Amino acid sequence: MVNPDFETQLAAMAREVEQVLVGLLTDAPLEGEILRPARLLASMRHAALAGGKRLRPFLLLAAHRACGGSGTEGALIAAAALECVHCYSLVHDDLPAMDDDDLRRGQPTVHKAYDEATAILAGDGLLTLAFDVMASPRVHRDPAVGLMLVRGLARASGIGGMAGGQMLDLAAEGRHSGDGLPLRLPPEAIRQLQAMKTGALLLFAVEAGAILAGATPEQRRALADYGRSLGIAFQIADDLLDVEADRATLGKEVGKDEAKGKATLVQLLGIEAARRELQAHVEAALAALSVFGPEADSLRDAVMFTGARKR
Ligand code: IPE
Ligand code: IPE
Ligand code: MG
Ligand code: MG
Ligand code: MG
Repeated sequence: MVNPDFETQLAAMAREVEQVLVGLLTDAPLEGEILRPARLLASMRHAALAGGKRLRPFLLLAAHRACGGSGTEGALIAAAALECVHCYSLVHDDLPAMDDDDLRRGQPTVHKAYDEATAILAGDGLLTLAFDVMASPRVHRDPAVGLMLVRGLARASGIGGMAGGQMLDLAAEGRHSGDGLPLRLPPEAIRQLQAMKTGALLLFAVEAGAILAGATPEQRRALADYGRSLGIAFQIADDLLDVEADRATLGKEVGKDEAKGKATLVQLLGIEAARRELQAHVEAALAALSVFGPEADSLRDAVMFTGARKR
């Protein structure tokens, strides 16, 4: 059962991360910057500050706690960096050239509120800001740890992670095939595509928490298994919501996956089979946490929330 207090805990953590994000997105140029154009800053603030569940930051902090991490300031800053990458991925995902969406987090998407070129630059600005922040000595006093995080974030975000997964997602629509028809990907290929486009950043969230806490190899392995299962579960839930939820609750358009010919397990296997698979991944994620005691309860709550989420 989902912990009834989970949403409250998630919202409390979201406020803390948002405070960090507000502090990062000010008009004062940093050392090495010349000036921050007002329109670009406003569009980045629109993308990063307008709602969102902040699940990736929550996972980072929860993994940090599960591994006995002390002090949360560094983890909170790392969490804000990760959320910047996520927000950038949404801005670009919504562009006309990609999923072409007008609504995100209950607001006009960045290219609607501003324009396409500004949205592309807002994404660029958020992505690069993320690495600036992740490399900050405020994240961890040991530069070797900072480097490990920066590289992990790059790998999760780039060609072999989120960006690569987005390429496969678009290709599956049939955009680059002669007949223009959606590719009929087998379930294993869909799982891989989703592990990249969505799973990679979620997996990185728990890995980063573990790295910051100085986790043991056993804890790292357990969290990696947890993160992989949660990642798949998360995207199946997103694809179910696209079919079953409504625009007002989700704050984004629904019914788009079928219309666009997206490769999802829901489209391929149907709602019931997808729901069963979602549940199996939730259970696998919980099982992966068996090496932990109550210190990992927030991670347990997070994956149960993922399995049952309505938004
Ligand atoms: C939406 O992510 C995009 C996917 C990776 C499926 P979230 O559902 O975490 O979006 P926000 O951050 O809460 O808006
Ligand atoms: C998005 O997947 C994954 C990202 C890397 C942003 P979707 O395209 O299904 O996400 P939504 O439904 O637009 O939030
Ligand atoms: Mg998409
Ligand atoms: Mg989309
Ligand atoms: Mg979706």
